[in-house]
Parts: sequence; C-alpha cells; structure tokens
Amino acid sequence: MKTTHRIVTGDSRSLSKIDDDSVELVVTSPPYPMIEMWDDLFSELNPEIADSLGASEGQAAFAQMHEELEKVWEEVSRVLVDGGIACINIGDATRKVDGSFRVFQNHSRTITAFEGLGFEPLPELLWRKPVNSGAKFMGSGMLPPNAYVTLEHEYVLIFRNGKDSRHFEPGSQRRYSSAYFWEERNQWFSDVWTDIKGELQALEQSELRKRSAAYPFEIPYRLINMYSVYGDTVLDPFWGTGTTSLAAMVAGRNSIGHELDEEFVQLFKQRVEDVPKYSREVVKQRLDDHKEFIEERLSEGKNFKYQADNYDFPVTTKQEKPMQFYSISDVRDTEEGYEVSHTPVEGADVQIEETKRGGEVASLSDS
Ligand SMILES: C[S@@+](CC[C@H](N)C(=O)[O-])C[C@H]1O[C@@H](n2cnc3c(N)ncnc32)[C@H](O)[C@@H]1O
Repeated sequence: MKTTHRIVTGDSRSLSKIDDDSVELVVTSPPYPMIEMWDDLFSELNPEIADSLGASEGQAAFAQMHEELEKVWEEVSRVLVDGGIACINIGDATRKVDGSFRVFQNHSRTITAFEGLGFEPLPELLWRKPVNSGAKFMGSGMLPPNAYVTLEHEYVLIFRNGKDSRHFEPGSQRRYSSAYFWEERNQWFSDVWTDIKGELQALEQSELRKRSAAYPFEIPYRLINMYSVYGDTVLDPFWGTGTTSLAAMVAGRNSIGHELDEEFVQLFKQRVEDVPKYSREVVKQRLDDHKEFIEERLSEGKNFKYQADNYDFPVTTKQEKPMQFYSISDVRDTEEGYEVSHTPVEGADVQIEETKRGGEVASLSDS
C-alpha cells in the first residue's frame, strides 16, 4: 500500500490548491483566539484585531479572531466530502482585559460557526493536559470567593459535513481492514481522555513544539483511526509541525497539510526521518496492549469467540476479524510530496510467548 502526503504553504483562508469534495477527514488545531501567543498572528491576518486589543476591547478582538478562523472553516466545508468529519482541537482562553479577568469560550464560538456552515455537531471529546505545576492556581489563594478554576482540558469538537453519514458498499474491504480493537473502541470513544501522555521522545523537539503549540501525536492518531479508513485523505489546515501528517502516515491514510509558516516545512524533513521506526513502535504498542487485554480476560475466565483472520490472536467481535496493521517500510520526498510505502504486518511478525499462546488456544477451542 502507498500513501501520499502533500504540504502546501499558504494562508488557509483560501484552500485554492485543494479540490471540492476531495478530503474525507479534517483534523486540526487552530491558533486559539485570546491566547496571547497568537495575538501577533491574528493581528497580521486582520490589523483591526491589533486595534481592538490595543483599546482593551476584549470581546471585539475575540469576535474578530473567530471571523478569521471562520474563513478557514468555510473552505473546510467546501473540500470535505458529504458525511466527512471535521475534528477541531481547541481550548478556551482565560485573560485579563482592561483589568477584568474572564474566560473566552473558543469551543462554543467554534460550534456556532460550524453549525452555521451546515455541519452537524456530534458528541465531543475532552482531553486533560498533563499537569505539572503546583503554582497553577489563579486568584486569591485559599480565600473565597475570588479564585478561578484552572483550565486543564481541551476540546476535540467533532462535526459531520451534512446530515448523512458516509456510505460504504456492504463488506467494504478497506473499511473492515481498518477496524480497531474492541477495547480500543471502549477507550477512544469514551468522552474524556485522561491518558494522553504526550509524544514519544523520538519526535520531541522542544523549541519547535513551544513555538507551534503542537498537540500530542496520540490525539490525531486516534482521531484518524476513529473517523477514516485506509485510502482516505486527511487535511490539516493549521499544520504547524505536521503532527497530523505523521499520524496519517503511521495510520496508513493520505494527508494534506496547509501552513502559513514555511519554516515548519523544512523542520518536518527531520521529523519524518524517524517515522518508519516510529510506525513499528506504534503498531507494536497496540498489539502488546491487545495481548495484555487477552491475558487479563483469560485470567478472569472469559473466553474469546473469534480469531483474527490475519493474526494468531483472538478478538472480541466479528468486526475485528479482518483487521490489518501496516508499518512504514519507506518514505520518499518527491516533488508532489512524501510518498510512503506501507507493508502489512504479518501474523508471523506478531510474537506471542509459547506459554501464553497455549492458554489462548485452549480457551479458544473451549468456546
Ligand atoms: C496551534 S498551531 C498547530 C500545531 C499543530 N497541531 C502541531 O501539532 O504542530 C497553529 C498553526 O496554524 C498556523 N496558521 C495560523 N493561521 C494560519 C492560516 N491563516 N493559514 C495557514 N496556517 C495558519 C500557525 O502558523 C501554526 O503553525
């Protein structure tokens, strides 16, 4: 299997290099309105924003920043297929403007914008950011009533483009081979993610991450597995360090990244060097987690009814049987973008220790 990964430098308020209805999934994290690190960028997009901020007109600046983002959301609705999904990672902002502290609710404003464009909101996710500071609380210490709650979560807002879901032919091979494990479903489709730990060391670039506010790899990786199938194309119109493209590569989907700042495109070249190794690690982790799950279930005396078609391990449901994992064997930097070759992870690549295997087979034949 081969996938392609294009990167376009330019302002995403016009996605003119991307055709109508050519993308199946959007996964992105825009600059958050009213978070100070993005003031200059928003002011470049619309100089009136600098005037509003300068005049301490917080609500006007907030509205103007969202108007700029809405131009991108309008383009997203054009390029996304009917029934395609848009996942928007966004956090609210707390800020003191003109001596008064308040929260600016970026998530609710974004929901309103998407609804206005004909998207249907689906249940959203919250994820908790890893917290490490004891000095994070704001306000008046231990004295009521003027302290403020600390925002430690971000949202992944999920929208469907139009009323109807995407259709697949019955038994669609690319859909069924994209299945995830039952236990992954239970974790991924639970509405609060408390287990997001940040990236593996291999992809960590602290300066770059700080400048771009990169999200952890796990966020786009899960979303891509949840809301697209092999062969689909994932777009990130606020691409930054390219975490979404890396996740799409590892998940075996095509991707398009659109980014204003050209510097990130150069830096991505270094990031991509590690991706074959990283893809093997990610798949290994998923398979190891599944094996741990099997052991747990067997030790509780529960049996499995189904055997994976391509692997020597049991699965919980019939839908998981055709699942197929891929790892990356080659990445080529071409004129059109990165061309990635994916090799199926074979049953023989998945080692199960003899003792554990005996237990599984025994319980399989019991069922
Ligand atoms: C929050 S960061 C995205 C970080 C990304 N998720 C990652 O993991 O690195 C937002 C990115 O959007 C880019 N950006 C902001 N406005 C843009 C616009 N109008 N068009 C294209 N890119 C834009 C910024 O340069 C920045 O890299």
